[in-house]
This record gives sequence, C-alpha cells and structure tokens, in this order.
Amino acid sequence: MKWTYAALIAAALSVPVAAQAPATTNPFQGNAERIRAGMAGFNIRCADCHGTDAKGVRAPDITQVWASGRTDEGLFNTIRNGVPNTEMPSFPPPRTQDYEIWQVLAYLRTLAAPAPTDPPRGDAANGEKVFRANCVGCHRVNGSGGRLGPDLSRVGVSRTREALTTRIRRSAEGDHRAGYAPVTIQPPSGPAIQGVKKNEDTFSVQIMDTRERIQGFEKDKMKSVQDNIRSAMPAFGPERISDRDLDDLLRYLSTLRGFDPAVAQ
Ligand code: HEC
Ligand code: HEC
Repeated sequence: MKWTYAALIAAALSVPVAAQAPATTNPFQGNAERIRAGMAGFNIRCADCHGTDAKGVRAPDITQVWASGRTDEGLFNTIRNGVPNTEMPSFPPPRTQDYEIWQVLAYLRTLAAPAPTDPPRGDAANGEKVFRANCVGCHRVNGSGGRLGPDLSRVGVSRTREALTTRIRRSAEGDHRAGYAPVTIQPPSGPAIQGVKKNEDTFSVQIMDTRERIQGFEKDKMKSVQDNIRSAMPAFGPERISDRDLDDLLRYLSTLRGFDPAVAQ
C-alpha cells in the first residue's frame, strides 16, 4: 500500500483521513449569545446529573474533559449518542439539534478546568484486595460478586471521587438507588426479614433478602412492611478501611471500564 504524506500524518495522529462530520471544532466557541443559550440548555438537560457547576452529582465531573484530551468532535458524539448501558442518555435529533449540542459545549468550555493538580494516587492492586475483603459480597464487578448492591464496574468513571468517598464512608440515608431501597418485613411469625425492594404495588412487595433470595409478600398478610431510612450498605469508617486503603480502593474502581450488559443488574 502506498502511503501519502497526509495519510501518514493522519495515521500518526490517529485521526480518520476523511472525517465525515461537517464541524469538528465548535463553531460557537467564545460566542457570548450562544454560550448563554448553552447555559440554559445545560441547566435543563444536564444539570440534574452533572450538577449546575458541571462538577458532578450522580454523574462525573465534566469540567476536565478537555484537559484530559477529549476533542470537541468526540464530546459532540458522546452527547449525541450517550454512553450505552449507563445512565448517560442520548440526545438525538429532532429533539436536540446539532446547534444545541454545540451551544452546550461552548458553555461547558467556559467552565473548563485545567488538568487536576493532584496526580492520581493509590495502588490498584491493593485496592482490589480491599474490594475483595469488604465489598464483593454485595457488589459485582465485571460479572462476578454479590447482587444485593448495584454493579460497580463503571462506578469509578461515572461518579466523582467525592461522591464515592461519601458513599463508602457514610451510610446513605434516603436517596436510595431504585431497586436497592432498604426494607424490613415482619411476617406473622418468625424473625424479621431484611432486604432491598425490587418491586412494589398496592398489595404486594417483592424483595431480595440479604441471602440474595427474591421473595414476594402480600402486604396485608404481614405484620408490617417498613421502608428503612438507612441503606442496606454499612458505613466503612477509617477503623474499617484506612485512608490509605480507601485511596487504593478508589484507584482500583477507577481502573474498571465496563460490564457485560447480559449480567448487569
Ligand atoms: C440521567 C443522568 C444524565 C444526564 C441527564 C446527562 N448525563 Fe452526561 N453522563 C451521565 C453519566 C452517568 C455519565 C458517565 C457514563 C459512563 O461512562 O459510565 C455521563 C457522561 C458524560 C460525558 C462523558 C464524560 C467523559 O469523561 O467521557 C459527557 C461529556 C456528558 N456526560 C455530558 C452531558 C451533557 C452535555 C448532558 C446534557 C445535554 C448530559 N451529559 C446529560 C449522566 C447523565
Ligand atoms: C451488605 C452489602 C454491602 C456491602 C458489604 C457494600 N455495599 Fe455498597 N451498596 C450496597 C447497596 C444495597 C447499595 C445501594 C444502596 C442504596 O442506594 O441505598 C450500595 C451502594 C453503593 C454505592 C453507590 C452506587 C452508585 O451507583 O452510586 C457505592 C459506590 C458502593 N456501594 C460501594 C461499596 C464499596 C466500595 C464497598 C466496600 C468497601 C461496599 N459498597 C460494600 C450494599 C453493600
């Protein structure tokens, strides 16, 4: 095969020789009116998950995407197509036009932060040990582990470090993930049953108990069906996981990249 000079450069930079997309850089960069429109669009469509400052709530911090090497075109495609099998939705036309995505990106650019000053820390190999010792009983990563809690195979890329630290250090109260809300059922006789709620209607409730058995109950046959405030996940204070082990654990989680949708949830 005969290489042209342009193809060699393109290969070296690993860009496609003939890019299809019309705009590869943001046509609205620095345009005050478009940035204002983008801010409004961001607040309506993105802020619930990414936070009004884009530093992340239920979803990652997206103020560092350029610093981490993402391009305008790549970000445009991520927003247009979403991230499959995650909570990041797609924003397809006609509801979301190209210019609306570019506006949001022009706004995000104004929030863009420089590369983080603290380099990634922690030892992923030790973090995996900490995970196996404390977490794998309730959580799966990459297809193996317990099922009482959600799959964590992407949690390192989809949540901020702060959100993860809070979640691990303190037991969540209220605001439980759908499908994992803690519940206690008191049958007519025998001990109470603890679990997480999978389904509920007026008359019945379906739970996964702490031994991962799915069980259904008719509510009016039970002494009580109680929604708990405290998460089924215990808090892991520094006496259980040292600050150093926590750094290692977060590093380990951040190395994970995905799950097999067939075994997820
Ligand atoms: C329902 C919640 C939700 C909404 C709404 C949402 N996102 Fe996301 N977004 C996520 C999650 C979760 C991820 C991480 C997905 C993953 O990789 O696991 C993500 C990832 C991203 C990424 C990729 C970050 C990276 O480092 O690759 C970008 C960019 C992004 N979102 C931008 C947006 C924009 C812009 C909007 C509004 C137009 C938006 N998101 C709306 C939840 C959301
Ligand atoms: C006894 C079972 C149990 C153990 C042990 C456990 N978890 Fe959890 N975890 C859960 C449950 C159940 C939820 C969902 C609860 C909720 O939303 O209230 C959860 C939620 C989480 C979340 C939030 C997920 C999200 O989507 O934001 C993270 C992060 C997490 N756990 C990490 C860990 C880590 C790390 C460990 C080990 C140090 C651990 N968990 C140990 C049961 C457990």
